Amino acid sequence: MARPQSITDPGVDYSNARVLLRSDLNAPLADGAVADDSRLLASIPTIRHLLDAGAGIGICSHLGRPRGEKLDELSLAPVAKRLSTLLGEPIELCDDVVGPAIANAAARLGSGQVIMLENVRFEAGEEANDAAFADELAKGFTHYVNDAFGAAHRAHASTEAVARRLPSRAGLLLAREVEVLGGLLEKPERPFVAVLGGSKVSDKLPLIESLLEQCDRVLVGGAMCFTFLAALGDPVGRSLHEDEAGQQMARELLDLAVRRNCMLQLPADILCADDFSADARLEVVPSDAIPDDMMGVDIGPQAAGSYREVIDSARTVFWNGPMGAFEIPPFAAGTHAVAEAMAESDGATVVGGGDSGAAVVQMGMADRFTHVSTGGGAALEMLEGKALPGVAALPSA
Ligand code: 3PG
Repeated sequence: MARPQSITDPGVDYSNARVLLRSDLNAPLADGAVADDSRLLASIPTIRHLLDAGAGIGICSHLGRPRGEKLDELSLAPVAKRLSTLLGEPIELCDDVVGPAIANAAARLGSGQVIMLENVRFEAGEEANDAAFADELAKGFTHYVNDAFGAAHRAHASTEAVARRLPSRAGLLLAREVEVLGGLLEKPERPFVAVLGGSKVSDKLPLIESLLEQCDRVLVGGAMCFTFLAALGDPVGRSLHEDEAGQQMARELLDLAVRRNCMLQLPADILCADDFSADARLEVVPSDAIPDDMMGVDIGPQAAGSYREVIDSARTVFWNGPMGAFEIPPFAAGTHAVAEAMAESDGATVVGGGDSGAAVVQMGMADRFTHVSTGGGAALEMLEGKALPGVAALPSA
């Protein structure tokens, strides 16, 4: 994917500019407050850079999926409050996304001032990538910066159409995400290993196909390994697994791996439980001998050790999807083992967003990886080789 021009490339002067900044501040809320600061923290370097350059900023983001409805529980108020604390600058939240008052506030933005528009998905024109709505959004601003990597796979007005209406650049986060994830496809140092988990083969089919094309080895864990085991004719007991259609996909992927000369490795053993709870009875069994009355909940210790060794000897590791139901502590060892092996690696280590990104943050290990992507769907689509509309709309470097 072509690298977009970023705010640090020459040719743009942000002193006294009034910048519409699209960030991805779609953070989880609990009891009316931000429950995970990761996306807010990741957005700060671009905000700081623009302020230091002398710009005034109107931050725009979505929160949740209100689908064109103004819902109080999805107001950006808690996000504006938390971001203001983290940034150490006042942020005034506007009542609306567009309209004369907002255009006025944008036109009056002074150097160093930060406002935030309300949740951009309160307006139906956002997800419709509507041209008239994008015109409204741009009013009063002189420049547009897209730093919302997590929403870059959406062709929405605030990520796509508006970029065609103002002089536009990528923010620091979006530029880094594209550079690191794009680099995995273009020039990975070898051996290049992918660790893949998650529940369904069918959900990640294009990603697995793309990784089998690029990688030297793919290590499989999570519930998707039970679909592979069932496809090979092994008993999977009460483990989550897909029906015949999913198993047929798994067989085709096993064939593809052989043709691509990529080793697709399944766990040698499995941690089984008689119940999906922390006080379940546990048993480690060979992966071809899961008892009828039990379910696989994690990769076993032998598999974890073997995956560790493979990760140790890799020069590039990409990880997406936990190895087991890590949110239940007795089922978390496989996911921990992968995270620790990657944290200790001296090669490049990249975590796709979503659950594995959350696991790494929850374990307090995020700063020991080369990169933890802030984008779930966006990171996966990029690795599938798809163009992201929010990136494609920016001028290329
Ligand atoms: C995310 O949380 O993955 C991004 O913010 C995109 O959100 P969406 O899936 O609702 O478009």
